[in-house]
Amino acid sequence: MTKHKIILDTDPGIDDFFAMLLAADAQNLELRGVTAVAGNQVMEKIANNARGIAQLLGWDCPVSLGADRPLLIPQITASQVHGDTGLGNFPLPAPQKDADKRLAWDFIYEEATALDGELEILAIGPLTNLAVAFLRYPDLPQKLRRIVLMGGATEWGNRGAYGEFNFYVDPHAAEIVFASGVPIDMVGLNVTMQTGISDEEFDDIARTVGDSRKVYSELLEFYRNIYCVNDLGFRIVAMHDSLAAAFLTDERVLEMRKAKVQIDCSTGLCRGRSIADFKSESPNARVAVAVDRPRFWDMVMHSLQNAPDVRVQSSASGK
Ligand code: BDR
Ligand code: CA
Repeated sequence: MTKHKIILDTDPGIDDFFAMLLAADAQNLELRGVTAVAGNQVMEKIANNARGIAQLLGWDCPVSLGADRPLLIPQITASQVHGDTGLGNFPLPAPQKDADKRLAWDFIYEEATALDGELEILAIGPLTNLAVAFLRYPDLPQKLRRIVLMGGATEWGNRGAYGEFNFYVDPHAAEIVFASGVPIDMVGLNVTMQTGISDEEFDDIARTVGDSRKVYSELLEFYRNIYCVNDLGFRIVAMHDSLAAAFLTDERVLEMRKAKVQIDCSTGLCRGRSIADFKSESPNARVAVAVDRPRFWDMVMHSLQNAPDVRVQSSASGK
């Protein structure tokens, strides 16, 4: 089986964590490294989470740290959704291994060069690390095979009127990435909001993880409650980042259409908006327009069946 060689660029983040569980469960992904970017929380917490999750999942690849703020504008986080730690109430074991000495953009460039056009990026946070990589290394676009990203929306946003969080946080970075010329698959809110977990599915998850691993269902419960408390308008838990990971693993989960995508970098109501022109004759991306939810849901459940036992990990690491 040919495996996708990937770097996972992430800001964990509750749904990032579930995306990482799904990636760990996929048989056709070869993870070359994790790069962390500030987004859902500040870099200190994101770095801790990225290293802790990598350890929990038994990943011995490098975890490299990147941007601790957006390119040009002040930082905002999503602590109101992901909690003070960035991972809700999840008892993540303390990471034992240091972060890689290379910064995220240097690591991405080195891997892209070594893999000679094979490397794909799965980007599920703000796009600052990638933008810095493109600014620093003008020949990087020719060395990348593809970027699959969770971000944007073809309709309304979840931060501001039209901005999706990852693009809203750093619209300038998103604009640089879409102008890079690298093939891009965009998985936006218009499809991820269709992955909300129903009450019945919550019960399925609780049964699947059982008592010994109930920290996973408790984390999802935390995510759901916080959505309600903050009155974000939805009583669902959307698995945004997991859907991008699932697409990289099995393209049948999404229907894509070619489009020319541009990002609104203004600071008003349209901040971070992704404008997708499906009629353009010079497309720069494929944009997800429909989701095969049952297929996606099977992948999520499969990854939860195989999710590691946190208590075993905790005692193994002496915590
Ligand atoms: C995106 O924003 C973050 O809060 C999530 O982790 C996801 O990447 C959804 O808009
Ligand atoms: Ca994320």
